[in-house]
Amino acid sequence: MDAATAPPPAAVEIVALTKRYAAGAPPAVDQIDLRIASGSYCCLLGPSGCGKSTTLRMVAGHESVSSGDILLDNRNITNLPAAARGTAMMFQSFALFPHLSALDNVAFSLKMKGIARAERHRRAKHLLERVAMGHLSERKPAELSGGQQQRVALARALITEPRVLLLDEPLSALDPFLRIQMRAELRRWQKELGLTFIHVTHSQEEAMALADTMVVMNHGLIEQVGSPHRVYNHPASEFVARFMGGHNVFATGDGLVAVRNDHTRIVPADGEAGLPAQVTDIEYQGTYVLIGLRLAEVRPERSGVSVLLSERAFVTRPCAVGEHVRLAWSDADARALGPGATRRGEPPPDAPASRPAPLAALAAMAA
Ligand SMILES: Nc1ncnc2c1ncn2[C@@H]1O[C@H](COP(=O)(O)OP(=O)(O)OP(=O)(O)O)[C@@H](O)[C@H]1O
Ligand SMILES: [Mg+2]
Repeated sequence: MDAATAPPPAAVEIVALTKRYAAGAPPAVDQIDLRIASGSYCCLLGPSGCGKSTTLRMVAGHESVSSGDILLDNRNITNLPAAARGTAMMFQSFALFPHLSALDNVAFSLKMKGIARAERHRRAKHLLERVAMGHLSERKPAELSGGQQQRVALARALITEPRVLLLDEPLSALDPFLRIQMRAELRRWQKELGLTFIHVTHSQEEAMALADTMVVMNHGLIEQVGSPHRVYNHPASEFVARFMGGHNVFATGDGLVAVRNDHTRIVPADGEAGLPAQVTDIEYQGTYVLIGLRLAEVRPERSGVSVLLSERAFVTRPCAVGEHVRLAWSDADARALGPGATRRGEPPPDAPASRPAPLAALAAMAA
């Protein structure tokens, strides 16, 4: 393999990593493999309980590993204590000490290492200045806004000079406006510092805005890894298509396909093409109008679909709740969906048994 095709060096490499909290229960994280490129922004994304925090805590050294390995810059850190790993963690609640000033919060870990007061304050002050908090260094956490507390928490994590910063839902304590502002700052800091960030979130939007690499997890397994563009435009499975949102999943003769709702077209009900559907609701969103529809003669869990129209397209050809239409799409916009992740040693879901009804059969049923 030459330099042009060699993968970028991995800051973090996870090999068959497993966490089983209780014997007999399904593992919270099940033999996952993952390489996170050095200097990249990686987001672990997935529904509640899918194993994101468990994975992050195992990388941080705050949770023991049941089996598997974690490598940081090619060094096996699986059994090292948290402080010896070269990682630092920033928590959801920031976990600042309420009785200490911002400066002392940031300097705290240096105090634990026995570094003299003047030196630890000099280094803490420098970091607070880097996150534009130098002028508020004497304030206690309660005297700071949410965004300011977050910057203090970031400075506190960075003072240990980590190679990898681990962030567990770092924006969830902020109000929606501040969350968007701080998300841009996190991204800027990551680029400026040149560190590897691993950021856990259950927000698709947050992951899309931040990540170089998105890792979509479900039930302790990795469903898909890729750039936000790749994952959004080529979801690997029905789970990913539905979890990412903005997609319809249609059953065709060739299996399930995902079609973005802005690539799904409403065509007249009296035509031949497309699947019959009925408009169930119309949501005005400003620039766009979201049309909710129900497919005829399709299993209830797969019958709800949507079409996203520009406001102009809707005004040109409006539709009404209750109207019967058909839904069509171009083959080029249809993404074939795979069966999704399976536990190692387990066969993939039985394809023929779960095969959806072919398109022709659906059309015949609806006729
Ligand atoms: N200390 C624990 N003891 C036993 N089970 C746990 C423990 N921590 C987590 N779990 C279980 O492991 C699974 C994964 O939990 P984890 O906290 O990693 O999920 P998550 O993806 O971070 O979810 P959320 O988005 O809700 O934070 C869940 O089923 C959870 O109940
Ligand atoms: Mg969590």
